Amino acid sequence: MANQVTIHVDQSAGTINRNIYGHFSEHLGRCIYEGFWVGEDSPIPNTAGIRNDVVEALRKIKIPVLRWPGGCFADEYHWKDGIGPNENRKQMVNTHWGGVVENNHFGTHEFMLLCEMLECEPYISGNVGSGTVQEMSEWVEYMTFDGVSPMAELRGQNGHEKPWKIKYFGVGNENWGCGGNMRPEYYADLYRQFQTYVRNYGDNKIHKIACGPNVDDYNWMEVLMANAHRHMDAISLHYYTIPGEFWTEKGAATGFSESDWFGTLKKALWMDELITKHSTIMDRHDPEKRVGLIVDEWGTWFDVEPGTNPGFLYQQNTIRDALVAGLTFHIFHDHCDRVEMANIAQVVNVLQSVILTEGEKMILTPTYHVFDMFKVHQDAELLYNHTVTADYELDGNKIPQVSVSASKDKNGIIHISLCNVSHKDEADLKIDLRGLTGSQVKISGTELKATTMDAHNTFEQPENVAPSEFTAFKLNGTDIDVKLAPMSVTVLELIAE
Ligand code: AHR
Repeated sequence: MANQVTIHVDQSAGTINRNIYGHFSEHLGRCIYEGFWVGEDSPIPNTAGIRNDVVEALRKIKIPVLRWPGGCFADEYHWKDGIGPNENRKQMVNTHWGGVVENNHFGTHEFMLLCEMLECEPYISGNVGSGTVQEMSEWVEYMTFDGVSPMAELRGQNGHEKPWKIKYFGVGNENWGCGGNMRPEYYADLYRQFQTYVRNYGDNKIHKIACGPNVDDYNWMEVLMANAHRHMDAISLHYYTIPGEFWTEKGAATGFSESDWFGTLKKALWMDELITKHSTIMDRHDPEKRVGLIVDEWGTWFDVEPGTNPGFLYQQNTIRDALVAGLTFHIFHDHCDRVEMANIAQVVNVLQSVILTEGEKMILTPTYHVFDMFKVHQDAELLYNHTVTADYELDGNKIPQVSVSASKDKNGIIHISLCNVSHKDEADLKIDLRGLTGSQVKISGTELKATTMDAHNTFEQPENVAPSEFTAFKLNGTDIDVKLAPMSVTVLELIAE
């Protein structure tokens, strides 16, 4: 069957918030330590302890926002342990993640410096599970108050006279689980209490984010929205893609079967149903859509790489991950009326990373390349598209073979991203560009493809999966005929003059 796509190039379906392309960094495994922080004395080139290669790679993909310090770690993190001279910083056990020593050398000042270097917004997760209202309140005061106060004075003593700007602040993380095992009714009350003391100092306006549901816990969303939506600017959602049905059957990141390939992509598509159903609940309580949905943990979660610390969640990243990323971004685009931010878990060396490091070496994963190719969608106008696609079938199960999203940027340039999820078949596609004006259309394209399902980059072969020029298209008036390779992510750029 020929795949047929109609794109209405003159009809905006909303704006794609650049923060949908956000990231998450936790004190987990080798994300913060080694991934970002190597210390000033390291032979790895760094600026004030933060490695330069990782910063440079992330700046290239225009990382808009970075969430920190967790995750589960956030509800055990006491921010005062991570300020002041290193020799005075507490050593502690990272109980959640591998039981390793956390020396607190990376704390608030280092994180804020990292965000400055990345030119991205910081998104701080506060501690509700094991912290106090006073501790959270003082952290906000420490970071943002400009004037005479105990916390502003302490910040000055630690070398940062001027306050920082903090926009995004999460009041707890996974409080239904590692963040305190709370019932939604209890957390809703705690949320109302804690957020009261998350103050706006001067012109710093905090966007308060409540801990939202795990996956399809619609009751959590209902209770939070019913009891606390007036006190929040956004609410989170966490959903990880695993190939199997159960957490005990996650499956390997490489060397997997066709059925794992199919299952993973099918599970990634579930994100659409989750957002749709959670949004329906939000719509009932907040029909004006004032409260945003922030998917601040998403991505693939496979078995850790053999021989690595199980508590470090280190996994390889293949063309399968690239397709999960592409499909997920398309879903986020389609829900841009509600989804205002998303943060892939996690940026370096943990779960579906965009970067892997080994000592001084660094590689970019297939997922990184999707972020790079899709950055053109950041802050662009989503264009309506209607896609009729063939099914991709395996063992009697079906999913759409092709996924499409299109946007127009502020210069009028149109970008069309396309995913072909079939592990064996090409996809022929006819794209009808409705409403296209201009007598001359220039098209160019980039594709990311592979010939094996678990194709990935290694420190020995870092360019195994890398973008290349895409030329398999033909323009006929306002139609484009396209041939997509199996297992591929493609972005077309159209300039009409
Ligand atoms: O990203 C890893 C962990 O997954 C986070 O710490 C937690 O919030 C989630 O369960």
